[in-house]
Amino acid sequence: MLPSADLIRKNLQLMPVPGVPGLRLYRAQPDSRLSRLIGADAASPYWAYAWGGGLALCAHIAAEPRCVTGLRVLDLGAGSGLVGLVALHNGAASAIAADIDPFARAACAANAAANALVLEVLADNLLAAGAPLPPVDLVLVGDLFYERALVAPLLAALRRFSDAGAEILIGDPFRETLPTAALQAVASYTVEDFGGDSRAAAVFTLKRN
Ligand SMILES: C[S@@+](CC[C@H](N)C(=O)[O-])C[C@H]1O[C@@H](n2cnc3c(N)ncnc32)[C@H](O)[C@@H]1O
Repeated sequence: MLPSADLIRKNLQLMPVPGVPGLRLYRAQPDSRLSRLIGADAASPYWAYAWGGGLALCAHIAAEPRCVTGLRVLDLGAGSGLVGLVALHNGAASAIAADIDPFARAACAANAAANALVLEVLADNLLAAGAPLPPVDLVLVGDLFYERALVAPLLAALRRFSDAGAEILIGDPFRETLPTAALQAVASYTVEDFGGDSRAAAVFTLKRN
């Protein structure tokens, strides 16, 4: 089945997100039968869940809305688009949701429309060496260090954004693959992770080289 915002709207339920007041997302339920919906060849439906790293960023933006006010924001590895939507909800000037999964981009579009927010959706792989970078002031990275193969290209891309003048904020629940030596923690939160368990998470920025 081809990914589209309509497909998400017809098959998933629009629901509140615990700990994120004021926004609703199309989220997976036990009876969503996502594998039937997306087909056997699709990537895992990360976009149907709110991940601990993204929720840490949402908590941080709610606690410190000035970190996004008036800024052009990129939600890198957006999944559902929740982090970009929370940034817009808290005063960001604009937000781009970048994800290489077409179902995630469809979910971002459906979730933005459901919350009456304007989220630009980008398919480019910004982790590819030399990829053109969109002009943004702040890069928000929710739970994108979830695979070892992503660590080096993601750090390289974030250094490129930083060299271009963007601030970087990374939310992560201390996953095994998180490159802590390269990061500086700025705040800690308790979040509900994928699966429903509460766990510690933090918001980090990049350490200066
Ligand atoms: C664990 S999910 C986190 C989603 C969301 N940020 C959150 O916190 O709920 C990671 C997302 O990163 C996306 N992703 C993986 N590699 C990527 C890449 N090179 N560029 C952009 N997105 C990527 C996946 O498709 C997935 O949607």
